[in-house]
Amino acid sequence: MSSAMSAAGTPQLDVFEGAAELADAVAEAIRFSSTAAVAARGRFTIALSGGSTPRAVYERLARDARLPWPQIEFCFGDERAVPPDHPDSNARMAAQSLFASGRARPEQVHRIEAELPPAEAAARYETTLRAVFPGAGLPCFDLMLLGLGPDGHTASLFPGTAALSETTRWVTDNWVAKLNTARITLTFPVLNASAEVLCVVSGAEKANALRDVLADAGDVRTTPARGVRPRPGSLRFMVDRAAAAALGRS
Ligand code: 6PG
Repeated sequence: MSSAMSAAGTPQLDVFEGAAELADAVAEAIRFSSTAAVAARGRFTIALSGGSTPRAVYERLARDARLPWPQIEFCFGDERAVPPDHPDSNARMAAQSLFASGRARPEQVHRIEAELPPAEAAARYETTLRAVFPGAGLPCFDLMLLGLGPDGHTASLFPGTAALSETTRWVTDNWVAKLNTARITLTFPVLNASAEVLCVVSGAEKANALRDVLADAGDVRTTPARGVRPRPGSLRFMVDRAAAAALGRS
């Protein structure tokens, strides 16, 4: 593993040899964060990423009895506009991996009800989050787990979509024209209110997007993951060597 230490406010970058080493490291990082949060505050709140990359991480976590399972609140960063039994469902992927071992009680898992019309699903999820995070102000997730698409999207914040401009709502529906589908997603204010953001990136097809995300200059509208800049929280990219291929030596 190689690391680029982060100065205040700049992302930390850790590069791992391959996908398996990356998944091992991400699972360990999540375990570490969960243990520290429970020790400090009695609970750990995480927003799970969707897609395929996290599956290997979730499978590792599912086998790990060392996590403070009873004290964890599991939320989702986004969801496809499909029912929970649909092959594209992020909730389904998590159920088949992270929750397959039965270590989490159903009431700890707060899925997005994406079987509903997207706008209604988004509004209901915001209500759910306000119950998980009672009190005024934005929810502060202990850990926001994110992925990165080849087009620079993260969560379901895709290039050129309306959700990029949402500054008030915690959760919004988002029409993604290029996919010809709606998504439900946490918004930038919620992502950036997190205490810790882990962005996990694997594979050569992500290399150019990762380069664009980490570049000194760029446009959030075309590379939405550039909009993830938690303050005062931390931002760490955990990537494999294939995803890091387009990064300069620095
Ligand atoms: C989703 C995710 C999305 C994902 C990226 C990367 O619902 O698909 O939230 O942001 O993290 O598209 O997906 P892969 O891990 O499948 O490459």
